[in-house]
Formats: sequence, structure tokens, C-alpha cells
Amino acid sequence: MGTHEIYEPVSLACVLPNLFPRVALYTETHGKYVLYKEASLPFTEADRDRLLDSNTLTLFIRTGDAEEVARFTEENLSHILERSDMDRSAKCAALTQATTTYLKSIFADPEKAQDAERCRNLSGHLARYISESQSIADLIKTLEGGSAFAIRHSLQVAVMSMLVWSKLFPEKGDELVDVGIAGMLHDIGMSLILKDITKEQDYWTSPTLEEIKRHPLEGYVFLRKNGRYGDLVLDAVRHHHERYFGGGYPGGLQGDEIKISTQVIGLADMYCTLVTDRPTRKASTPEEAFKIIGDETHRCFSTILFYAFQAAIR
Ligand SMILES: [Fe+2]
Ligand SMILES: [Fe+2]
Repeated sequence: MGTHEIYEPVSLACVLPNLFPRVALYTETHGKYVLYKEASLPFTEADRDRLLDSNTLTLFIRTGDAEEVARFTEENLSHILERSDMDRSAKCAALTQATTTYLKSIFADPEKAQDAERCRNLSGHLARYISESQSIADLIKTLEGGSAFAIRHSLQVAVMSMLVWSKLFPEKGDELVDVGIAGMLHDIGMSLILKDITKEQDYWTSPTLEEIKRHPLEGYVFLRKNGRYGDLVLDAVRHHHERYFGGGYPGGLQGDEIKISTQVIGLADMYCTLVTDRPTRKASTPEEAFKIIGDETHRCFSTILFYAFQAAIR
């Protein structure tokens, strides 16, 4: 195992002085990890000041401590995102690290997705972050590389859908959190079909297409079981592969038979897939992706939504 697999980054914003779990903290220089603070010692405000002075905004923890740190971060996100001593990029890193860790855990063990409150909490923080800035450039940047496709993809679709939703329907802000939940969970059915979705692989090639096509319905049935996800979320999970002009699955719905929130998730899904490198296909540029999606010969989305989406993410 290489050293990079033993350590995980943690944004300095997460490391709340005197409250942070007692885990060993490391710094990294030129690929070498150096112990910064032993697990038995508290992280103090003086430590924070020293790190800020040397512009060290990322520390590292052992992978074995990641679960405990993730739990701490999730529980203290309000506090972390309101810190006046940290800049936006450090807070953004904290938010994406918390969400990525959550997604990794539910894709590895889908039963964990039954905890709707955990997902709602993270989506609520994403919603506030996006509403305050109206820009996702920093969020998207932190998503490049790192985790497996399914995890990056789910967070990208959530963030992209939320941005579009907040711009298109500012009056429907109360649904923004559900749009984020739907984005994070839209492909949860994949983890019920594939053995290990958290390993980097192209999820469109391993099982047969017929098997893959079961993921919306499997995901829907699975999430409906616990009764704590709303209609918006369940509908998006079930119908994000329906197409406005027909030909989608599983219901072969058309036009306004597809909820507008589900159309937004479906469009963000296709866009995010196109602009991401996959083993079978190189990433398109945003311009190329819009050209493919907007191509008259195989139109998948309503023209109004397509143009609004394009304007929202430019
Ligand atoms: Fe999907
Ligand atoms: Fe997807």
C-alpha cells in the first residue's frame, strides 16, 4: 500500500481547536507525511495560528481515523462553515470532504442511505453554501480527481442540480434541499446491482445494459422502504432516465409527465457524465457537452429547460 492510501486530507477548517477528536495529525511536504500532533495532545488555537501563518490549510489523518473525523465534521458543520478564522476555500474543502465521506459510506453499504437525516443534514449545508454564493466553481474544483466515479458523480449532480434549481426557481427554495438529496442518491440503485461501486470503474460497461437499466427502480423501491424520503426524491431516483421526447426508462414517460425536478436531475446527470473522464470515453468540454445534449436529432430535454440550464451554469 502506498503512503497516499494510508493518509487522508482534512481541511484545517474541520480542525476546531480543543474540540477536534484526539487523532494524530500530519502535514505533507513533497509526498512525505510528517507527524504534526500526537493523538494524545489537544489541537490548540496556537496550533491553528501557526498553520495559518505558514499557509497550511490541509492536514492529514490516518485512514483508520477517517470515520471518527467524518462523524465529527458532519455533526459540527454549522460551526465549521461559520468560522470567521477560515477562508471560503478551507470551508468548501470541509464541506466536500464530509459529503464525499458520506457518499463513500452509502455506496459501500447502501443500508446506510436509509438514514435520511444524515443525507438531509449534508444537503442542507450544501444548499446554504450554494444559495449564499450562487457559484459552484470552488465546489466543482474540489471534486476533480480523488474518489471513484460514482462518488464524484453523485456529488456533482447534486451540486449542479441545486445551482440550476436555485436560479430557475428561486421561489421554490424550500425544495432545494430535496433536490440535493435526489442528486446524491439518484444512482443509489447502482450499488444494489454492482458488487463494488466504490472502486474506480466505468459503471456502464461491467454488467449488461439490461441489468444497469434496473437501477432507477431498484433505488426507488429501496429508498421508499424507510418512508422518510419525500416524493421529489423518490420520483427523481425512479425517473431520472426518462426523456422529455420519450424513449427513456423505466416508465417511458414523456413531456410534463416527468416532474420538473426530475428533469433537472436528469439533465444535470447527462451533463456531468459527459464532462467527466471515464475509462471508455474522454471528457467533453462544457461546449461540446451542450452541443451533444442540444443536438436536434436526439433531443432528450425540453428546449426551455435546456437553455435555462445552460444559462444557469455558465
Ligand atoms: Fe442513473
Ligand atoms: Fe447518474
